[in-house]
Amino acid sequence: MAQISPQQASRVLREAGFDAEAFVYHTVGSTNEVARALVAAGKREGTVVLARSQSRGRGRMGRSWHSREGGLYMSIVLGPFGPGFPATLIPIMAGVALAKALKDSHGLSPSLKWPNDVLLRGKKVSGILSEAATFPERGDGALLGIGVNCLQDSFPAEIAQSATSILLETGSRPSLPYLLERLLVYLSAGAHLLYLEKREVVLGEWRNLSSTLGRMVRVELAGSETIVGLAKEIDEDGRLMVDVQGKMVPVVAGDLVQLRTDSRG
Ligand code: BTN
Repeated sequence: MAQISPQQASRVLREAGFDAEAFVYHTVGSTNEVARALVAAGKREGTVVLARSQSRGRGRMGRSWHSREGGLYMSIVLGPFGPGFPATLIPIMAGVALAKALKDSHGLSPSLKWPNDVLLRGKKVSGILSEAATFPERGDGALLGIGVNCLQDSFPAEIAQSATSILLETGSRPSLPYLLERLLVYLSAGAHLLYLEKREVVLGEWRNLSSTLGRMVRVELAGSETIVGLAKEIDEDGRLMVDVQGKMVPVVAGDLVQLRTDSRG
């Protein structure tokens, strides 16, 4: 796979409308960790960290993210945000951006599993981890981490049934620079929509790409209760609203959602 050079990454970042630097590494612990240190050192919105591999790639809900060479591993700094900024919609926006970037760059038709897993034929090709960040003396922002399986032709046994890569789906070697370019363009546009308080546009795009709405889901709520119901809607803060025998239960990002294959609503 064509790897991306620091010069390419910086050019693509500028073209996407971010006035910031790109940092490209061979191996890091986690690109989110590096981005956090850069924010503490005064780096601004749009700063991007890219790595060919990660030794401590992090996933959602305390899981690890399989990060050997062949994937795209990146983090981008967003913020600081003003009061009322809908930070809970950042991962929702990022899932939409990535789905559109995969379509433009590789002709793929991904779907989104709530909140932001990007699926190809029901298997996960990408994961998104948005973490809070604090800008020195300037307020709160986010570290948006995105991992895309690009060139992997196999996965460890524990995720072999649930993971896929662009290579496995298309049968050809993906273009990392082009994927990155489209991703940054859509992230920039999506972030602007949120800054402009146009959250309905982002939510509408998410609904159109969703493979969760209208499906029966099983949800392990963070408080340890498990519910089964019909995924009805995503609300204005990005919560999944699940109809459990007529009662609407809001599901938030820390809850574990499984799509049930046995039935549809
Ligand atoms: C998930 O569990 O689905 C989220 C996975 C997020 C992985 C990406 S890879 C780049 C960034 N750095 C990390 O350590 N994690 C995110």
